[in-house]
Amino acid sequence: MNRPEVAAAMAVLEAHRVEISRKRTLDLFSEDPRRFEDFSLRLDDLLYDYSKNRLTRTTLHHLFDLARVRQLEKRREALFSGEKVNVTEKRAALHMALRNFSGRAIYVDGRNVMPDVVDERGKFLAFAQAIRSGEFVGATGERLTDIVNIGIGGSDLGPAMAARALSPFGAAGLSAHFVSNVDGSDLADTLKRLDPARTLFIVASKTFTTQETIKNAQSARNWLVAALGEAAVPHHFAAVSTRLDKVAAFGILPDRVFGFWDWVGGRYSMWSAIGLSLAILIGPEHFEEFLRGGFDIDEHFRTAPLSENIPALMGLIGVWHRNIWGYPAQAVIPYDQRLARFPAYLQQLDMESNGKSVQLDGDAVTRATGPIVFGEPGTNGQHAFFQLLHQGTEVTPVDFIVAAEPNQADAGHHALLFANCIAQSEALMRGRSQDEVRKILQAQGMAGAEIDALAPHKVFSGDRPSSTFIYRQLTPRTLGRLVALYEHKVFVQSVIWNINPFDQWGVELGKELCNRLAPLVSDAGADLAGLDGSTAGLIAARRRLAS
Ligand code: F6P
Repeated sequence: MNRPEVAAAMAVLEAHRVEISRKRTLDLFSEDPRRFEDFSLRLDDLLYDYSKNRLTRTTLHHLFDLARVRQLEKRREALFSGEKVNVTEKRAALHMALRNFSGRAIYVDGRNVMPDVVDERGKFLAFAQAIRSGEFVGATGERLTDIVNIGIGGSDLGPAMAARALSPFGAAGLSAHFVSNVDGSDLADTLKRLDPARTLFIVASKTFTTQETIKNAQSARNWLVAALGEAAVPHHFAAVSTRLDKVAAFGILPDRVFGFWDWVGGRYSMWSAIGLSLAILIGPEHFEEFLRGGFDIDEHFRTAPLSENIPALMGLIGVWHRNIWGYPAQAVIPYDQRLARFPAYLQQLDMESNGKSVQLDGDAVTRATGPIVFGEPGTNGQHAFFQLLHQGTEVTPVDFIVAAEPNQADAGHHALLFANCIAQSEALMRGRSQDEVRKILQAQGMAGAEIDALAPHKVFSGDRPSSTFIYRQLTPRTLGRLVALYEHKVFVQSVIWNINPFDQWGVELGKELCNRLAPLVSDAGADLAGLDGSTAGLIAARRRLAS
């Protein structure tokens, strides 16, 4: 698909990089007093500042050319119109339908899916409300106050991240817990704090075959039955899945099973009934606000010209960093403790989507694809890995995320938090030259030889790119916007790289091998012949070491 044109557009960008690397980012600001205004975008109370990246109008012009060659706008249209853009699984990718408040129909295989979406949402939100109001109680008549979501990957990370992010909107007396790992300590450590009579389990699994989730759900069921008896199960279990047949076999009451559809990818599913735990915690109205935040971004991404389109710019600037500068990673640093799980959520969204080496037509990619995504909340990260961000040999672009005002937190703390955030992006850009360091050391009264020895260690190269998102406050709507911005950013990059962001074959081999190895691990007498030396050696070591 347009290979020579893509190569030509990349070559233009590469030549342009050589030119632009002669300039410091700070020079770009001194040459252009309007740089901040012109290299930032506003969407209501959300500001996206990309002015601290080393790029100019010419860079953007070349990036838009690349987007045109890859027919980004046409591919965006295909995504929104329900085409089977997930070609390897022959599915549409229509998570946008789950937050479509436009009144427009959305078709999959010629059928408008919106009535089903609205109907299912009505059901799971009514269930959420019934738990909140105490209409639905546990088997002993006690209120259900502890909601345990059992799921993993897309059936865990979204609701877990959002439940923490939106905790100020949670109902008093309700707590959400998230159990994902097949490591039994995850479930055990959660259950030891809980009273079975007040606990509701939500088994969340798109496929309802995921080993970790099924194992945890069975153990949770055993725990409940041991305390309250078999008859209590229907009062204490609900499920969310696309495979209603498999859920029925688990014994959960049909009116407590909420569905979604195969055109919603696991890592794009928190907008569906997979968000049930979140909906119970924050309530249907706030959950709907979260959906509306996603819808705001869909409308923006669908209609804004590329030059004013935040996800398009996020994606293209990411391509500039990944392919033209060769930066291998992307850090995401929320200066918001309640967004602590946002980087982990984005790891699945970005790395499971764009961690691919094969193009849509099956040919190997010829350029780097998805970056390694990592992050931690600021200011904590500053005291951990920021050393490498400032002085390491790899340059890592950073996305900073920060509110203008806190939610249920001390304003004095928040001013410090905010100052730290912008100080870091300034430091990354500004750096500190050897000359500046020497002057500072001289002013401190240090002698020449000592300055010579110390100065190189105190130099910061600067010109380390970052973007910053600022919004008024972390509300459900803002969170919905943030999540949808990154979803579409990932899509934009997949278009440039000509890869399918909606499949995840890379997780299959490990699952398959685990199924083969599990019996050999649990049966101490099983024959290990035929395994490679390391795998057999590790199983033998476990047999030796375990008492
Ligand atoms: O890790 C692979 C994966 O299939 C993810 O894509 C998915 O979100 C997760 O497992 C959980 O799958 P399920 O919701 O089907 O249990």
